[in-house]
Amino acid sequence: MINGIQINLDIPYPPIGDLKPNSKLAYKLKEAYAGPISEISCITKYIFEHISLNSDLNEIKTVLKKIAIIEMKHLDILGTMIKKLGISPTYTAFNSVENESYWQSNLISYETDLIKCLKENIIDEQKAINLYKQLIIDAQDEKITKVLKRIILDEENHIKIFQSILNNLI
Ligand SMILES: [Fe+2]
Repeated sequence: MINGIQINLDIPYPPIGDLKPNSKLAYKLKEAYAGPISEISCITKYIFEHISLNSDLNEIKTVLKKIAIIEMKHLDILGTMIKKLGISPTYTAFNSVENESYWQSNLISYETDLIKCLKENIIDEQKAINLYKQLIIDAQDEKITKVLKRIILDEENHIKIFQSILNNLI
């Protein structure tokens, strides 16, 4: 709990089950898995913020780590779906020139000012939600839609958490 908001929602993740091979869709999911705004970017950014913040911000440091662990669950879910759809879950995504490129650590910001970090985190979570909503439209698959809708609930909760911490600081 932080500011009365639960960090881990008491809502189970729907089972993925069997998926029909669909490499086109798998490559689309890779953007949310290992593209610039992706689960792996969120995990590494939040852990960097967790490590970098001063120890007097211990409560916020703990929250960042807990949220990073939730993003890791999302990485696991997306990677599992990508594999079931028939491609390898390497940390790669298509870039703007349609080449598959490896995720790189320079895709994330290394901001250390807490207020700026929180503002960036909120923007990134919103972009992630928009991407998931687009993927739901592209997927046209009930099993995948259910899972992505559950992930969106977490990302919306993360925005609520970051916003409430920000409101207490400004
Ligand atoms: Fe996520």
